[in-house]
Amino acid sequence: MSSPLTVALLGGGTVGASVAQLISESADDLTARIGRELKLTGIAVRDASKPRPGVDSKLLTEDAAGLAASGADIVIEVIGGIEPAKTLIESAIANGSSIVTANKALLAAHGAHLHKLAEEAGVDLYYEAAVAGAIPLLRPLRESLAGDKVTKILGIVNGTTNFILSKMYNDGADYSVVLKEAQDLGYAEADPTADVEGFDSAAKAAILAGLAFHTNVTSDDVYREGMTKVTADDIAAAKSLGYVIKLLAIAELTDDDKGVIVRVHPAMIPVTHPLASVRDAFNAVFVEADAAGQVMFYGRGAGGAPTASSVVGDVVAAARHRITGSVGPAQSIYADLEVRPIGEAKTSYYLNLKVSDESGVLAAISNEFAKHDVSIQAVRQDGEGDAASLIIRTHEAPESRLRATVEALENMTAVREVLGVMRVEGAGA
Ligand code: NAP
Ligand code: HSE
Repeated sequence: MSSPLTVALLGGGTVGASVAQLISESADDLTARIGRELKLTGIAVRDASKPRPGVDSKLLTEDAAGLAASGADIVIEVIGGIEPAKTLIESAIANGSSIVTANKALLAAHGAHLHKLAEEAGVDLYYEAAVAGAIPLLRPLRESLAGDKVTKILGIVNGTTNFILSKMYNDGADYSVVLKEAQDLGYAEADPTADVEGFDSAAKAAILAGLAFHTNVTSDDVYREGMTKVTADDIAAAKSLGYVIKLLAIAELTDDDKGVIVRVHPAMIPVTHPLASVRDAFNAVFVEADAAGQVMFYGRGAGGAPTASSVVGDVVAAARHRITGSVGPAQSIYADLEVRPIGEAKTSYYLNLKVSDESGVLAAISNEFAKHDVSIQAVRQDGEGDAASLIIRTHEAPESRLRATVEALENMTAVREVLGVMRVEGAGA
C-alpha cells in the first residue's frame, strides 16, 4: 500500500484528545474506509507536560506553528478562539494542507476569508463539528439539500442553555440555582457568558445561515439576546399555556426572497413542536425547505467523543479527496442576500400585563394593538381587582410593530406593569 496520509492535530483538550483516541482506536477501519493509512504526526498543546490519558505523549509538542506549517496532508484545528487558530490555519493552507476545524467562533468571523484561501490553494476546509457537535448537519445542508430551497432554520444549538432551561422547566427553579448545578456537573463553564448570553448560538446561527442561504453571514450580522433574563415565573406562565421556553437560533428568508434575518433569543414554542421535546444538553435543528418540507436533525451537540465523531468524519472526507486529487464543494455565496434587521422579522408575542380591573381597560388595550396594526389572537384574564392580569397572544406581525405596541402599553395608565413579554415561534409546525 502507498505511504500513509499525514495528520497534524492542533489542540489536545476535550475534543483534541478524543480525536487522537478515535483515530488511534479505529486505525484499521479508517485505513480500509479511506484506502490509505492515516498517520498522526503530532499534537500541539500549550503545556506538553500535562497528563493526557489515552494520548501518546511522544506526539505532544508545544510548537504549534511548526506543526501547522509541516505540510501534513490534513491539519486538524481544535484549539478554539480566533488567535492563534486563524494564523495557524492560514499557515497550514499556505503549506498545502487540507483543514478540518471545530472552531465556530473563527468560522463565523472569518469564514469567507478562510474559504477563499482554501479555494485558491486547492485544499479542503471542513467544519462539521463547529455546529451541533456530533449531529451531521452542515454536510446535509451543503450537499443533500443543495437541490432544494431552504426557507427557515429553527434550532437549539447550545447544550448548556438547553440543559439550564430544561431544568428550570422541570424543577421550577430560578436561573441562578440551575446555572450553579450546570457548572457543578461540568456543562457550563466557570465563565458561562458565551453560552448564556447567546454568543455561541449566534456563531452557529451565522454558519447555518451562510450554508442554507448561500450568503456570507457573520456573527455580527446576528441579532442576539441571551437567556439570563428568563425567570421561573416566565417558565411557569409558558407551561400553563402549553408552551416551553427554548433559546432558539433562527435563520429565515424574508418574504421577498431577497434578504435573510438571523436571530438568537429565548422564545416560547408549543409543547407539541418537535423541538419542545429536545431536553437536557441535546441539540436539534429543524429545517424547512420548499420541496423537502420539514426535516429535523437531533443529537449530542457537545462533548469530546461526540464532537470527535464529526471531526474524524471530516478527516475521512478530506483524506479521500487527497487520494483522488480532488476537493469537496467550495463555499457557495452566490445569492449574496441582504442581511435584514430583526425589526423586519415576523413573529408573534406573548404578553402578560398587570392591569386595572375596570370597564374599558380591555378596549383601550386592544385599541393600542389595533393602532399598531397588530392583531390579537387570544386574551385571558387571570385574577381580579388588584391581582388582575391579562395574558395576550398576538398573531404574527413584524417585530418593529410588536415592539412599538409594547412601548405604548408601558405608557398606559391602565397597564400597571408589563410582567412578561416573549416571542412565540413554531406555532405552525
Ligand atoms: P479545550 O479543552 O480548551 O482544548 C484546547 C486545546 O488547545 C488544549 O489542548 C490547549 O492546550 C490547546 N491550546 C490552547 N492554546 C494553544 C496555543 N496557543 N498553542 C497550542 N495549543 C493551544 O477546548 P475544546 O473543548 O477541546 O474545544 C476545542 C474547539 O472545539 C473549540 O473551537 C470549540 O468551540 C470546539 N468545540 C468544542 C466542543 C466541546 O464539546 N468541547 C464541541 C463542539 C466544538 P493545553 O491542553 O496544554 O491547555
Ligand atoms: N458550549 C457549547 C454548548 C458546546 O453548550 O453547546 C460547544 O459548541
